[in-house]
Amino acid sequence: MNSKRNATLTVGNKKYELPVLSPSAGPDAIDIRKLYSSANLFAYDPGFTSTASCQSTITFVDGEAGNLLYRGYPVEQLAKQSSFIEVCYLLLYGNLPSAEELEEFEQSVTIHTMVHDQMTNFFRGFRRDAHPMAIITGVMGAMSAFYHDSTDIRDPMQREIASIRMIAKLPTIVAMAFKYSIGQPFVFPKNRLSYAANFMRMCFKVPCESYKVQPAISRALDRIFILHADHEQNASTSTVRLAGSSGANPFACIAAGIACLWGPAHGGANEACLKMLHEIQSPDRIPEFIKRAKDPSDDFRLMGFGHRVYKNFDPRAKILKESADEILSELGDADNPILKVARELERIAVDDEYFRERRLYPNVDFYSGIILSAIGFPTAMFTPIFALSRTVGWISQWKEMIADPALKIGRPRQMYIGETGRNYDESKNP
Ligand code: SDX
Repeated sequence: MNSKRNATLTVGNKKYELPVLSPSAGPDAIDIRKLYSSANLFAYDPGFTSTASCQSTITFVDGEAGNLLYRGYPVEQLAKQSSFIEVCYLLLYGNLPSAEELEEFEQSVTIHTMVHDQMTNFFRGFRRDAHPMAIITGVMGAMSAFYHDSTDIRDPMQREIASIRMIAKLPTIVAMAFKYSIGQPFVFPKNRLSYAANFMRMCFKVPCESYKVQPAISRALDRIFILHADHEQNASTSTVRLAGSSGANPFACIAAGIACLWGPAHGGANEACLKMLHEIQSPDRIPEFIKRAKDPSDDFRLMGFGHRVYKNFDPRAKILKESADEILSELGDADNPILKVARELERIAVDDEYFRERRLYPNVDFYSGIILSAIGFPTAMFTPIFALSRTVGWISQWKEMIADPALKIGRPRQMYIGETGRNYDESKNP
């Protein structure tokens, strides 16, 4: 990316010229890569609120307008007209596939949906009440032991095979984690089913009954997968990039991303949000929780609300809000009391001065749990489903980074504010 102009930094009686880079969308950036070597200065930005960590062509979030683009396509169009497997292709390779390319890609994913049979023993090492996120974090890390033939990141073919394997196997692994947690036998994938339908069947089929996927439900799940697929340099994607910058194998990098996603400030918010809505229970208790969320001495926050980048409605939340209505009506649960609480909570919060001045709106996690719960998933499965969806985004970002000839290991500096020049003897013998 070329620089058309410079920023002048004046420190004391010295001036430093720093290039200003202009992206295809979003704010310009001051290139500070030479700041330390030329001025012996660090930039300080904990939480990276004003820092661009990389250049990327995959996803763009316009937080002010509330827009999300995957390879330039609005997520609203993809959610309504595409499929998750097609969006996987788009994120991985940069363009929408032809019919033949999509068929070939879907076939390559389908034939990798089974996991190594010995992996089932790995699950049995966990207690039955282990959180599914603990299980899938461990199993993903262990995949590098089972698929060692696709861990050499310098080999583009091995990178491709590892990518397909993870996208194909995550639904199987997440379904196995769910089955293990409820004491039911694992269900093998069925290759003639779509990605979302296959996942539904692996989660909800039992050997003693036949199982038929409801098309409206698998369509809703497919849409949830699309909406969670990628989101720029969020915490878990940045974790995957940082792990990948050391040359770690792809399975280890994605395991790191899963671990980071688990946090309630990030992907764990969908589970925390539904628990919060159940705790509120009825609209007349909403003011009590709004009061707590606004109280600086109370660490309670409205889960599913607020976002580092969106200072407007999260477009994904808008689509999920519509989906929640559709699915609950489809399931004959249009009067779901929790959905009523969510809608009333949103209505009150977005009109409240505290939320308005901080530009806090519902995010992707506010309605997703209501839909997943209505489909039949327990709250502990919400973040594993987020991880399943986001794996293609993590992999796409990891591939983009690994293919960059300018790749350097990520190694942030710090501002040291601790003790200096202490002496052991003087401390031990004052
Ligand atoms: C995801 O980054 C991504 O793209 C993530 C994600 C993705 O697709 O990968 O979009 C997925 O993680 C969505 C976010 C899910 N998390 C939650 O819903 C948890 C609840 N939200 C917050 O914890 C918070 O909004 C964050 C973590 C999402 C964002 O926090 P920031 O950007 O660091 O903002 P902040 O904590 O500095 O808050 C600014 C102000 C503070 O008040 P003041 O100090 O100015 O008085 O807003 C307040 C905060 O106290 N605030 C909230 C709030 N979120 C922020 N107050 C009440 N409830 C909230 N939810």
